[in-house]
Amino acid sequence: MCGIVGYTGPREAYPVIIKGLKRLEYRGYDSTGVALQNGGLKVYKKKGKVAELEEAVVGTNLHANVGIGHTRWATHGEPSDRNAHPHQSSSGKLAMIHNGIIENYAQLKNELVRKGYTFASDTDTEVLLNFIEEIKSNNECSLEEAVRIALKRVVGAYVILLMDEDEPGTIIAARKGSPLVIGVGKGEHFLGSDASPMLEYTKEVVYVNDYELAIVRPDELILKNLGNEKVTPYIQKLDIDLAAIEKNGYEHFMLKEIFEQPQTIYDCLRGRLDADAGTITMSGIQQYADQIIKANRIVMIACGTSWHAGLVAEYIFEELCRINVEVEYASEFRYRNPVISEGDVIIAISQSGETADTLVAIETAKSKGAIILGVVNAVGSSIARISHGGAYTHAGPEIGVASTKAFTAQLAVLTMIALKIAQIKGSVSNERYMHLLRELNDIPEKVAEVLKTAPAIEKLANKYKDASDFLYLGRGYNFPVALEGALKLKEISYIHAEGYPAAEMKHGPIALVDETLPVVFVATRDAYHEKVVSNMQEIKARKGKVVSVITAGDEHSRDLSDDVMEIPRSG
Ligand code: BG6
Repeated sequence: MCGIVGYTGPREAYPVIIKGLKRLEYRGYDSTGVALQNGGLKVYKKKGKVAELEEAVVGTNLHANVGIGHTRWATHGEPSDRNAHPHQSSSGKLAMIHNGIIENYAQLKNELVRKGYTFASDTDTEVLLNFIEEIKSNNECSLEEAVRIALKRVVGAYVILLMDEDEPGTIIAARKGSPLVIGVGKGEHFLGSDASPMLEYTKEVVYVNDYELAIVRPDELILKNLGNEKVTPYIQKLDIDLAAIEKNGYEHFMLKEIFEQPQTIYDCLRGRLDADAGTITMSGIQQYADQIIKANRIVMIACGTSWHAGLVAEYIFEELCRINVEVEYASEFRYRNPVISEGDVIIAISQSGETADTLVAIETAKSKGAIILGVVNAVGSSIARISHGGAYTHAGPEIGVASTKAFTAQLAVLTMIALKIAQIKGSVSNERYMHLLRELNDIPEKVAEVLKTAPAIEKLANKYKDASDFLYLGRGYNFPVALEGALKLKEISYIHAEGYPAAEMKHGPIALVDETLPVVFVATRDAYHEKVVSNMQEIKARKGKVVSVITAGDEHSRDLSDDVMEIPRSG
C-alpha cells in the first residue's frame, strides 16, 4: 500500500500535500516525495517518513499551486531516495506517483530498453511512466490520450497521478484496483487515497471507479472511461468529522483506536439491535435472507485480520444458522479456479473496502452468479459499491495499519447477521436468541471494563517483551482469536508468534516449549474450557510460561497460569 495526494487550486500546494501525506502514512512510510509545478516540474524525494522530507527541503522555494505527493511502502525496489516517488520521465517533462503493482512491467521495460530507454530506479512505476511518454511522443497526442492508450496494455493494479510540464495546473489521474478519492472545492480540487487529506477543505467527494480517468484542473473535473466517453461524476457528501482522523492525545492511532472500541461497537449495534424488543434491523441483509437460507454454502472472503473475523463468524454461523460456511483467503481464492454455483452467497469482509485481492475475488464470484454481501468499514469504498447488499461496520476511520477496532466491529456485525438469519430460519430457540441479543448489547460496556485493566496489561507486556517467540492457543471461537493475537504481536512488536488450535499443539509445536517460551492461552469459559485447561497443564509440564486470558472468577485457570488477563463473563 502507498498513500497518494494531489492538489490543484489557488492555495500553496506543498503544505496541503504534506499534511495529507502525514494522514496517509498509515498506508506506507518507507519513503516520501512531492512534485510541484511552477513553470517547470520540481521533484523532492527522500527515503524515510514525511517529516524527514520536510527537514530536507527547509530553505527551498516551494511555491506552487499544483502538486502531487506520495508516501511509499516498497514493492518493486528497496526503500531508497532513487526508488521514492514521484518519478520523472526520461525527458523530465512528466512526473508520476503510483499506488499498486504493474504485473507486466518486465515486458514493458524490455520493449522500452530495446528503444534505448534507461531507468533511474528499480520501480515498475518508472517503467509505466516512460511507456506513457513513449506513446505520447510517438502519437503526438495529449497526456490524457497517452495514459488511456497505455492503460489498455497494463496488467495489475494502480492509481496513478501525473503532471505534464506542458499542461500547467492539470493533474491526470486513473485507477484500477487501488483507491482514489477526489475532493471538490470552490475553484480547487484535492486527490487522495482516502478522504483524510481533504476533510478540512471540503466534504464533497467523488469516488473514482475502476477503469476511469480523471482530468483535474482548479475549476474543472472531467471523468472519462478508457473508451474516452465522459462519465458524470457522482458527488457524495461525507459524514466524517475531522476529529475522527486526529490522534486526540494518544501516542499512536492504534492505541486511540483500541480505546475507541466501546464506542465503535456501540455505533455498530446502534439503530440495529433492540435487545428489549428482540429485534435486529439490517435492511441490506434482510432483503437477501431467503437466498442466504437456501444457499448451499456461504463463502467468507477476506485478508489479514478480516480473514480472522471470517473464521470466528464461521463458528457462529454454523452453530446458529446451520449453514455450511467456508472461509477463504482472497489472495488464494482469486488465483484458483474456484467452483461457484449460482446462488452461492459470498460475504466479503474488509475494513478498507479497497483490498485488491478481496475486490478481485468477489468480482470473480459475482461474474459467476454469486450473491455478494459486503461487511465493510469504509463508506463508499469499492467493495461496498460492488456488493449486492451487506452492512457497514461503522467503526469510523481506522488509521492504524494493524486493524483493531475494525475487527471487533466486524465481529459485532457478523454476529448480528447470524442472529438475524437464525431467527428468520428458526434454527435458534427464541429463548437463546433473546439471551444472545442481551449479551451482545452488553458488549460495549464489558469492553470498557477490560480497557480499564490496561495498566496491568502493560506490566505484563514489560515482563515478556524480551521473549523471541510466542505461541498463541485457543479452541473453538478462541482459535481464530489466538491467530489474530499472534498476527498483532508480529506486526507491531516484530516478535515471532504462532497461533494454533490448542489441541494441535501436541502434533508438533509442543517440541518448542521450554521455560523461555510464553504461551498465550485464550481460555475463556466456554464449551471447550476443560479441554483447554488440559492443554495448559501440558505446557506447564514442559515448563513453558502460561499467560492466559480468562473469564473473571475462573480460579482454576488462574492457578495454572503464570499470569492472567481477566475479561468479564459473556455469552
Ligand atoms: C493488511 C493490514 O495490510 O490488510 C491488516 O495490515 C488488514 O490489518 C488487511 O486486516 C486486510 O485489509 P482490509 O481493509 O481488507 O480489512
